[in-house]
Amino acid sequence: MTDAFPYASRMSGMRASEIRELLKLLDRPEVISFAGGIPDPALFPAEAARAAYAEALADPKAALQYGVSEGYGPLREWIAAQMTRDGVPAAPENILVTAGSQQGLDFLAKALLSPGDTVLSEYPTYLGALQAFRAYEPRYDRLRFDGGNRTPASYLGRAARAGGAVKALYLVPDFANPTGLSLGLQARRAALALAEELGAVVVEDAAYRALRFSGAALPSLQALDAEARGGLDASRVVCLGSFSKTVAPGMRVGWVCGPRALIARLTLINQASALHVSTINQIAMFKIVEQGISPLVAAARPHYRRKRDALLDALERYAPALARTAPEGGLFSWVTLPEGTDAAALLERSLVEVGVAFVPGAAFHPDGSGADTLRLSYSLPTTERIEEGIWRLAKVI
Ligand SMILES: Cc1ncc(COP(=O)(O)O)c(C=O)c1O
Repeated sequence: MTDAFPYASRMSGMRASEIRELLKLLDRPEVISFAGGIPDPALFPAEAARAAYAEALADPKAALQYGVSEGYGPLREWIAAQMTRDGVPAAPENILVTAGSQQGLDFLAKALLSPGDTVLSEYPTYLGALQAFRAYEPRYDRLRFDGGNRTPASYLGRAARAGGAVKALYLVPDFANPTGLSLGLQARRAALALAEELGAVVVEDAAYRALRFSGAALPSLQALDAEARGGLDASRVVCLGSFSKTVAPGMRVGWVCGPRALIARLTLINQASALHVSTINQIAMFKIVEQGISPLVAAARPHYRRKRDALLDALERYAPALARTAPEGGLFSWVTLPEGTDAAALLERSLVEVGVAFVPGAAFHPDGSGADTLRLSYSLPTTERIEEGIWRLAKVI
């Protein structure tokens, strides 16, 4: 296929992943997939959604009309109250409703990044964030909490030599995609202190925060920072929230919570981009969560905990030598293969020989490292299929 359009330079960083072709094989019913990190549709509140959309459409003049770019008022209020319950004293003016938290990542990158600026993240990190940021042509630098010898001056020096500034630390502190790991309190404080020294924004991606199934919750980065600075409007943390993992991803409703001044800027970006998130989806989402989000979360937690347990039990039984993470929440475990194993080559064999899919780890590393790692998502297969899948996978490993 020839393609001779005069593309912008930002397109050179935007490539389809090489594993996409392989993942097309996922449609075969015999394949057991640990690949997609998507919520289990068994948990979707289908009845509540039907009722919510019907109720919203009872007032078509509101539900089918344009809305304001900030988001549907009652939903912003609900989100602000929810953030406040989670330790972040937020007002509706601190909230922008977005089309999933993914759109929040794009808007933030648009607001913060000039070409050549630096984003610090852990390696590995959420692939979708790397893709969203890449459109604004940044460079990445690796943030480590487990030692390493980087100093604030070294981050700043490398950023300056690349012709930009350190603009953002991107973190998924709770049950990260792809590792399933969470940052401890000390690491949270260290990240905030580093951001302060670098003069950078902390982008806290809280997509999985509600999905904890064991252990005690830690304060969010935004809660810690807002408390230290005497309020959210003085904070340098901006938090991305989502209803995708607690209600339903297809409605595409998420939010950005941050200082009012930043939210006002992001609202301008939204005005020039999508105008606003679908009015009817926002109203329906409000009607669903107004009934109480707790029962939805309360159903999701044991559901995913059972699947996590099935995955970890099967790994222990069939592949005890493999290093893997034991997440306290979320949808993923991260596996490190024997040294020298190439997870991309393993995927090809695994799909062809035993019909098991996963995501090779390199895609989650901005520098392409991590060839001997892979991500297993336990959200979709049943516990029986999880055991069967790990048994099959262990054979090819
Ligand atoms: C860490 C993380 N952030 C953000 C998103 C985007 O989710 P959404 O746009 O549906 O809120 C995802 C989706 O899987 C994710 O894993």
